[in-house]
Amino acid sequence: MEKLVIEGAKQLRGEVRISGAKNAALPLIAASLLAPGIHVLHNVPDLRDTRTILRLLESLGLTWEREGETLKIDGTGLRFSEASYELVKTMRASVLVLGPLLARLGQAKVSLPGGCAIGARPINFHLMGLEQMGVRCDLEHGYVDASIDGRLQGATVYFDVPSVGGTENLLMAASLAKGTTVIKNAAREPEIGNLVDMLNGMGAKIEGRDSERLTIHGVENLTAAESTIIPDRIEAGTYAIAIAAVGGDAVISNCEPAHLPSLVEKLRLTGVKVEVGADSLRIVSDTNTPIQPVNVTTMPYPGYPTDLQAQFMALMACSNGLSVIHETIFENRFMHVAELQRMGADIQVDGRVAMVKGLGEMPLTGAQVMATDLRASSSLVIAALAAKGRTEISRIYHLERGYEDMVGKLTGLGATAWKEKE
Ligand code: UD1
Repeated sequence: MEKLVIEGAKQLRGEVRISGAKNAALPLIAASLLAPGIHVLHNVPDLRDTRTILRLLESLGLTWEREGETLKIDGTGLRFSEASYELVKTMRASVLVLGPLLARLGQAKVSLPGGCAIGARPINFHLMGLEQMGVRCDLEHGYVDASIDGRLQGATVYFDVPSVGGTENLLMAASLAKGTTVIKNAAREPEIGNLVDMLNGMGAKIEGRDSERLTIHGVENLTAAESTIIPDRIEAGTYAIAIAAVGGDAVISNCEPAHLPSLVEKLRLTGVKVEVGADSLRIVSDTNTPIQPVNVTTMPYPGYPTDLQAQFMALMACSNGLSVIHETIFENRFMHVAELQRMGADIQVDGRVAMVKGLGEMPLTGAQVMATDLRASSSLVIAALAAKGRTEISRIYHLERGYEDMVGKLTGLGATAWKEKE
């Protein structure tokens, strides 16, 4: 195992280029199960999670090759329908193969993902929607054993709360269903728009992109096509918050500022200067001007993303007042709090609410801390960059699930950071 070592309190300057979005790459790669032929995906990040889903596709009979940021996946060889526990347990998003497998093969056996560090994370919405489309779902020995005779049937599905993965799974399944499917209270995250574009490019007939009501007119066949993964808004947001917390003046390039509406406003309220370009953000954070405390409540898109909650908490730990952070999406997403406290942060948690008393003039101090999940790890990186002294973050494989070349990108901004064997 490796750890990340950071010498803090060095301002960030220059430019950081954002990679393709992990949360778009995973469903778009899964969508290549829907049609034979060569699917070409551009701007695909090389991450632990993208490698995992490609291993999963291989185990289902597909082949692929990567040239730089372009991935070519041959959907022709699909012949197996089981996603094993070994793969699903390392990445919950593996469950995204359920819809495409059912649509193309009429059967799928997918390990139940189980809980994870941030909460129970059930897949009942995915299963409910598929059942409404005529699928029999049996739960046995930790697996969902799903099958249907003939084609899936169009249905109207309503989600109690908008589910990103649930919306994606049903979009893929419904594209090849007989008849029309309507998803009500669908999630509206930009990654879903990216998937809709890919599916429509393959011949699907989906209306209502970016809205909470998606209408999918099923077609008999889809064909392989070419798509481009959108920039990773969470990676862009993480660097924006890091520059704000540490101080400096840097440009975040190759991003889509329109996908970060809530973060841009929250950062401006902290007193940091945010310049929005067509495909870039410039963050200017003057260390002589204290960071103002700002409250944040996580919400489905276009609200403030839960995937940037931990990072914002690290910034608030450096503010000059009291802020309240309310996590409404996941029930246990404050694992980073205990680690931030080890670095001197003053945070109290009551259920889903964290009260953060910023340290003002006093800096956080470097410490040995442990990464617990992907986004919690990036909040520790931000705290470490802002802290006085050296921080060692162990278990950085969490970070590598979702951040491409983080050490390279941070050192490119002038940070002192390196990886070491634990
Ligand atoms: C996706 C993202 C993840 C992000 C999350 C919320 C990917 C690969 N992952 O995860 O980074 O944090 O959206 O923006 O895109 N729920 C149920 N039953 C279900 C499905 C979800 O109760 O069947 C609940 C969840 O527990 C959670 C909420 O719905 O409270 C939203 O979850 P969901 O949008 O489905 O998250 P994921 O798709 O797993």
